[in-house]
Amino acid sequence: MSTPSPPFTDPAGTWDRRYAVDEYLFGKQPNAWLREHASVWKPGDRVLCVADGEGRNSVWLAARGLVVDAFDVSSVAVEKARKLAAEHGVSVSFSVADCDNYLWQEAAYDGVAAIFIQFADPDMRSRIFAHAIRSLKPGGILILQGYTPKQLEYRTGGPGIEAHLYTAPMLREAFRDLDILELREYDADVDEGAGHRGRSALVGLVGRRR
Ligand SMILES: C[S@@+](CC[C@H](N)C(=O)[O-])C[C@H]1O[C@@H](n2cnc3c(N)ncnc32)[C@H](O)[C@@H]1O
Repeated sequence: MSTPSPPFTDPAGTWDRRYAVDEYLFGKQPNAWLREHASVWKPGDRVLCVADGEGRNSVWLAARGLVVDAFDVSSVAVEKARKLAAEHGVSVSFSVADCDNYLWQEAAYDGVAAIFIQFADPDMRSRIFAHAIRSLKPGGILILQGYTPKQLEYRTGGPGIEAHLYTAPMLREAFRDLDILELREYDADVDEGAGHRGRSALVGLVGRRR
């Protein structure tokens, strides 16, 4: 097992400090890849948002009529997420939890959203991906977005550690037990709060559990 490097040794403290500002670090609008692909889920479907931060994705999905659970390690972020849900008059079941302590439900969800969860080193990433797959019902769909190693040149967001980044072949292998509906590496101008802004090297995946 690899030794986590700072700031990954104290994720709750590190992220609580980052989120302790009035602004929403990643904005209040959903991630573009999620917005583009969320029609795979229909109103009433159950969706889990992994490391959901300040709630921009979970709240948007709830406003589309989905039944949403969300968790994040930062209590400050989850408090802001609750506020955002209240602003939109929607209900999301939020929890404060580390991905290694979260009580993942088995075969419970029609969807899992994993958007910019590259705090995870390769060992943790394997654990999260395994949980995410197992938490889907057969036929359930994962939507995932991250940065590729080219992002190290752009430096417009992301962990800045190559081992945490994804490539399309790596995701194809990691999710070989899913039917891959879409998998794309692309560059785009991202405008998702101060945390993710500017030309970015992205990869997106949509995969269905068999
Ligand atoms: C780049 S932000 C993305 C947040 C959200 N998914 C979004 O797209 O706006 C990464 C998130 O991972 C959370 N996080 C970091 N380490 C974590 C861990 N070990 N378990 C759960 N969440 C974690 C942080 O608090 C932060 O909200």
